[in-house]
Amino acid sequence: MDNAKLILNGQEYEFPVIVGSENEVGIDFRKLRATTGAISFDPGYGNTGATESAITFINGEEGILRYRGYPIEQVAENASFVEVCYLLIYGKLPSKDELTKFENDLTHHTLLHEDMKKFFEGYPANAHPMAIMAAMVISLATYYPNLNENESSAEMINLNIIRLLAKVKTLAAFAYKKSIGQPYIYPRNDLNYVEDFLHMMFAVPAEEYVVNPVVARALNLLLILHADHEQNCSTSTVRMVGSSGASLFASIGAGVTALWGPLHGGANQAVIQMLERIRDDGSDYKKYVNMAKDRESGFRLMGFGHRVYKNFDPRARILKEAADEVLNELGIDDPLLSIAKNLEEVALSDEYFIARKLYPNVDFYSGIIYRAMGIPTNMFTVMFTMGRLPGWIAQWKEMHDDPTSRINRPRQIYTGERNRDFVPLDKR
Ligand SMILES: CC(C)(COP(=O)(O)OP(=O)(O)OC[C@H]1O[C@@H](n2cnc3c(N)ncnc32)[C@H](O)[C@@H]1OP(=O)(O)O)[C@@H](O)C(=O)NCCC(=O)NCCS
Repeated sequence: MDNAKLILNGQEYEFPVIVGSENEVGIDFRKLRATTGAISFDPGYGNTGATESAITFINGEEGILRYRGYPIEQVAENASFVEVCYLLIYGKLPSKDELTKFENDLTHHTLLHEDMKKFFEGYPANAHPMAIMAAMVISLATYYPNLNENESSAEMINLNIIRLLAKVKTLAAFAYKKSIGQPYIYPRNDLNYVEDFLHMMFAVPAEEYVVNPVVARALNLLLILHADHEQNCSTSTVRMVGSSGASLFASIGAGVTALWGPLHGGANQAVIQMLERIRDDGSDYKKYVNMAKDRESGFRLMGFGHRVYKNFDPRARILKEAADEVLNELGIDDPLLSIAKNLEEVALSDEYFIARKLYPNVDFYSGIIYRAMGIPTNMFTVMFTMGRLPGWIAQWKEMHDDPTSRINRPRQIYTGERNRDFVPLDKR
């Protein structure tokens, strides 16, 4: 493709163009400031490519999502979450032997250092589990203290990757048990990744707990659909922090905090709270669609809209179907599901939403399934964290292994006070 031309102050400049394997086009502005003295200005980075990546592809116009080239629909239908972790992090589907070894490694690193339990004790009972997750993930760096990953061996980094994937579900379950005042249930090596998590969440020492296969299948699907989504806010945060050489644990901890926001992963909790509000308001969902269209109301339809998808989010399509199946199999009639469906129907036939290409996103139906599984609302984003972890790790590793990667440091346009002399206190 020809170079891109820019005319600034009557002078013409040329910039190379890069084209990805899916024909995405990028103007290579790495020499923009050096050649023109100007910078690109793109608040929110809606038009800015921060990196090349070979992990996940999204075509937002056509509602396409692929992990390492595999369509999400096929992966969701056929894979286990652990297989998807391997695919994202190591770049290929594991062979039988590779999967067995990987599963074995994950199974044998699930235990937390007993002292970490003391951290849990320090939190107020109503502490939000996302705050605990962020702090606990970063605290792992104190038990595995190779603080500068640039000097760490590939083996050490891979061991920390295994530790993080294995321990995150123990941390999540312990945070839940702490919040409800129940005893912690330790990991069991005879259960697979998803079953072990559900056992740690819902078992109690007083009686045997058998994992419901419907719930296990639903959780496997939810984790897969959340596993990666290229350069979203939390993943960009992981790369930003990691670009300074900070440890894997520190970088991922930062990602957890970014995901917590209601415009990002925190939307799944916000959706259920919105649906409950509509239910308690006579299920008048048309009223809330109108509120969402009124900019003054400050109200948005949570679970609707996306920076990249200007069509149906394929994850939402899959979860809408799964919501019906899971609730039917569990014999649950949740009024929030019919409110959600009615809301979707009205919004999708409304000019305001059509004009802005606003469709349900991954958070619209996920909460209804978590609820049916017995996951409390304030744990929804922790579930998102567990799902997104392999994607964050894969993105961090791709950046870490790239010898050309530099520290992330965007520029700005200063609009504040210009040069002025300091005024001593007695002169103010
Ligand atoms: C996801 C989201 C943050 C993307 O934001 P974005 O790409 O920066 O888009 P903008 O916020 O600029 O929105 C574009 C327009 O659509 C409107 N809009 C976007 N999402 C909306 C929603 N959920 N409800 C009502 N209006 C919405 C905005 O008001 C804006 O309107 P305008 O053109 O009249 O100014 C945004 O759609 C949103 O806030 N959704 C709800 C939260 C959510 O579900 N997040 C999870 C994402 S997976």
